[in-house]
Amino acid sequence: MRTRERQEDVCMESFSIDENTVRYEKRIAAESAVRLVESGMDVGLGTGSTAELVIKRLGYLVKHEGLEIRAVATSKRSERLAHQLGIEIKTLDELPELDICIDGADQVDSKLNLIKGGGGAHTREKIVASSSNRFIVCVDERKIVPTLRRAVPIEVLSFAKAPVSARIRDLGGTPVLRMQEGTQFVTDNGNIIIDADFGAIKNPEELAVLLSQIPGVVEHGIFMRPTEVHVGERKGVRILS
Ligand code: 5RP
Repeated sequence: MRTRERQEDVCMESFSIDENTVRYEKRIAAESAVRLVESGMDVGLGTGSTAELVIKRLGYLVKHEGLEIRAVATSKRSERLAHQLGIEIKTLDELPELDICIDGADQVDSKLNLIKGGGGAHTREKIVASSSNRFIVCVDERKIVPTLRRAVPIEVLSFAKAPVSARIRDLGGTPVLRMQEGTQFVTDNGNIIIDADFGAIKNPEELAVLLSQIPGVVEHGIFMRPTEVHVGERKGVRILS
């Protein structure tokens, strides 16, 4: 039986030299976050390409090193992957309080405010993160910015598309309906996504409150202060908290 350290070395060897830098950085950030997971923990699983690296790493540890965890997934896609890899999946009804949640993000500012929802899963991601004692975010270094400025993904009831778009304009934003393969993107919850561009977001906390107050908004993608952000860089992983 090889030691855990050795197994990690083996896994590291699978980073081929032709793997691009961004993927490499996501991967080392994901691996760094997974080191916080211990047997017996209940774990929230995020959504997106970085979260998938987290899930794959956890699946590896479950299969090869006897890691025993139970998990709640933030999307059908993550749930499918985790299940395929032998991770025990539960619902939030079964596990209302989780030890740790590990997820990616689209942007992280200097105060560790986040924009999430590039994959349209931010509603469940926020619920699972807020049900977890620790919320760990892993990103590649390109996601770190002084000020958030990506369009904010907003999950909206389809019925409320027009009034919510009008309210976003009132707040100075430009709403764009998210499309996928020529039709409206539909979330796992059966709703639409409006990506709202506000330019540089100087006060994310205030914008978060204003967006939450709009009738028809299910959830927006501004997240506040995770426990830690693991940033994958060429030279290694930097942890911000
Ligand atoms: C999905 C998310 C993702 O965490 C975010 O879009 C980052 O994705 P990736 O890891 O693929 O860059 O919020 O809703």
